[in-house]
Amino acid sequence: MTGLEVICAFAHDSAVAIVITDAMVEKPGPTILYANESFARLVGRPSADLVGMSPRFMQGRETRRPVLDQFALALASAERFHGFLTNHRADGTKYVAEIDCRPLRNAEGRVEYFLAFEREVVRRRGRPWGGVASRFEPASIEEDASTQTLRRLGVFERN
Ligand SMILES: Cc1cc2nc3c(=O)[nH]c(=O)nc-3n(C[C@H](O)[C@H](O)[C@H](O)COP(=O)(O)O)c2cc1C
Repeated sequence: MTGLEVICAFAHDSAVAIVITDAMVEKPGPTILYANESFARLVGRPSADLVGMSPRFMQGRETRRPVLDQFALALASAERFHGFLTNHRADGTKYVAEIDCRPLRNAEGRVEYFLAFEREVVRRRGRPWGGVASRFEPASIEEDASTQTLRRLGVFERN
């Protein structure tokens, strides 16, 4: 059994959307190797269809290029990316995704995969003060055992 198989098995039923790609940063990479059912629901496509695709399929006119540049830089530097992007579903509807993407390294320290936790967020009412993260809140709260485990890993928390 590989480490990736273990991660996918635990990710499968998670309420949090999880997607894993290879470590190929340059176009046409990265390529999706695995997406759990919550991710498939979020993006409106069957998980089997997602394998082999680039996560860029979610991009559209309202996806902000400066944020994608930050994302690209984080991937190339093998650093965490935590940010907000407008994603588009297969049916054309759009949503704001909070993305916490991390490199997965092997024992030698080489990046083997990228793993992203994603969730739909909506604008907070009023005029929140603070950084970008304070402007959004989760669109729905679905707590399960994995949500608590991921909180312990600092997933979706500010840098
Ligand atoms: C695991 C993972 C998940 C990603 N999820 C998204 C996503 O939900 N939406 C998006 O627009 N880009 C996503 N990306 C980023 C794109 O794949 C791509 O890296 C980004 O557009 C920057 O590269 P570019 O400058 O070549 O476009 C994801 C990347 C990785 C590695």
